[in-house]
Amino acid sequence: MQADKTAKNKFDFKLFGKIFSYTRPYRGIFFISVVSALLISGFAVLTPSLVGRLIDEAITNQNAALLFSLIITMSLVLFGEVFFQLLFTYTANLLGESVIQDVRVKLVSKMIRFRMAYFDKSSIGVLVTRAVSDMQKIGEIFSQGFFMIVADVLKMLVVATVMLVLNYRLALLVFAILPMILYATRWFQKSMKVAFVEVRSQIAALNSFAQERLAGIKIVQLFHRESVEAEAFREINKKHQDAWLKTVWYNSIFFAVAELLSSITVGLIVWYGGVQNVGGVTAEGYGDIFTFILLSSLLFRPLRHIADKFNVLQMGMVAAGRVFAILETQDHIEDKGAHEAEDIQGVIDFEEVQFSYDTKKQVLKGVSFHVEKGSCIAIVGSTGAGKSTIINLLNRFYDINEGSIKIDGVDVRDYALKGLRTQIAVVLQDVFLFADTIANNISLGNEKVTREQIVAAAKEIGVHEFIEQLPGGYDYTVTERGSTLSSGQRQLIAFLRAYVSNPSILVLDEATSSVDTYAEQMIQRATERITEGRTSIIIAHRLATVQKADRIIVLDQGRVIEEGTHDELLKQKGAYNELYKAQFLEEVDQAV
Ligand SMILES: Nc1ncnc2c1ncn2[C@@H]1O[C@H](COP(=O)(O)OP(=O)(O)OP(=O)(O)O)[C@@H](O)[C@H]1O
Ligand SMILES: [Mg+2]
Repeated sequence: MQADKTAKNKFDFKLFGKIFSYTRPYRGIFFISVVSALLISGFAVLTPSLVGRLIDEAITNQNAALLFSLIITMSLVLFGEVFFQLLFTYTANLLGESVIQDVRVKLVSKMIRFRMAYFDKSSIGVLVTRAVSDMQKIGEIFSQGFFMIVADVLKMLVVATVMLVLNYRLALLVFAILPMILYATRWFQKSMKVAFVEVRSQIAALNSFAQERLAGIKIVQLFHRESVEAEAFREINKKHQDAWLKTVWYNSIFFAVAELLSSITVGLIVWYGGVQNVGGVTAEGYGDIFTFILLSSLLFRPLRHIADKFNVLQMGMVAAGRVFAILETQDHIEDKGAHEAEDIQGVIDFEEVQFSYDTKKQVLKGVSFHVEKGSCIAIVGSTGAGKSTIINLLNRFYDINEGSIKIDGVDVRDYALKGLRTQIAVVLQDVFLFADTIANNISLGNEKVTREQIVAAAKEIGVHEFIEQLPGGYDYTVTERGSTLSSGQRQLIAFLRAYVSNPSILVLDEATSSVDTYAEQMIQRATERITEGRTSIIIAHRLATVQKADRIIVLDQGRVIEEGTHDELLKQKGAYNELYKAQFLEEVDQAV
């Protein structure tokens, strides 16, 4: 849709200027490209005139010496043309690739700083497309679009001028065909633009279908969806094929018509030249005929391709429009705090915190609690109560609407963001692992964390044996998203990741998925070890963890409904007591 809209608009010079500003660091390459393009046009025009002279002067007058020197000159011209063609192709592509590399790096480093709310409303697939395939289209502006068009237009202007100077009658004859070719070219360009937009959206459909089905392969196979999905894929392919065939059809028509018009032109030149000669024109006329046949093909050939090149340029501009829209988005979490968070003690205060992700639904409705330095609080409550949200607010993934969140009496917004996040380690509910070794997944590329430290930390929290059991131990390479590890194993690695970063505040959002008793014990031990002497907030589902916490907060629909120690809460006989009874009975059931 977007492409369609932009395609109808006039050429966006402002946007073009922005793209062009990225060529600034590559002035040298840019210059070589432009000069080569100009020289190619110059050389191309030389050959036809030389052929004319060859026929009129060397052959007609049987001048062997001139013939020889003309042939040498023509070889040199050809050599020059080939050389500059090579130089041009290389530098234009180099320029395009250099520009998109810069834009791409800038785009991705911009993207990864956006606030969470940005990602809540954006599709990851679309952002990836912007960073990869849209970039390629921008590169093509340089390698296939813009310079080529400039070079071709120049070439045509030079050719037309040379024609007029050589023989204006023959020139006018050729020009008479031009409007028809121009009209056909314009038709072709318009039709192709529409067809290309369709092809591109069908490619996107193919991509996203295949990618989604492969990512969800377990569901596909579990629910016997293989043949249904294959059939659906066949239909998308059919649409893609139809869209593609349309472009092939336009191509076939256009090139046939262009070929026909060129041949008609040649016919006209020969006919008119012949008539002139019959009418007693000098032998020099023959040379002109040959020159004009060659020149007219030089005039028409670029015209045929210019339509394609305009499309490439147009597509590049559409892609650039989308990419620059992201580059110009300002959607970062404000980072204006001056407080360095280095020696945080870890006293946390939530005061009447109100928050909603979007304006529609209030998620936290005035949450207050206090965490002493070095103590451990557990947050319990039903699904969707707002537990994970509290963590998202503490490390400023989102900023709150009302109230305040303070660490050591200082508002979280007054800390420098980097320092704040370094001091708070979070084990998220769904553990994410990168496709890298276990060791790198733990250190996250922090060079200050040595292998010895990692191993020592693993031994301390009791997961060293587990990691050693993996093939390759700490060098075991995790595949995409850690799918080859169990969820308990992933969680242990995430624990270690949080532990080696040696934070002042530790936050654990326990995964609800159940793990076996052995892993549970391991996680339990690890939790105890890493929360020791640290302020910690644990969102807990396991009773053992909850019981050991210094305080327990019961959250319900964005409100704190109970707060106290395990024993206090049991005595209150409220929501916590109910929860405890339910879980306790369940465990007794399991034990029996
Ligand atoms: N990124 C988001 N955008 C909009 N709404 C959200 C977002 N994340 C969570 N919510 C909503 O906020 C509410 C609280 O979610 P939260 O993740 O804090 O629950 P939770 O207590 O951690 O639940 P669980 O025990 O299932 O993990 C839910 O109603 C949820 O739909
Ligand atoms: Mg949660």
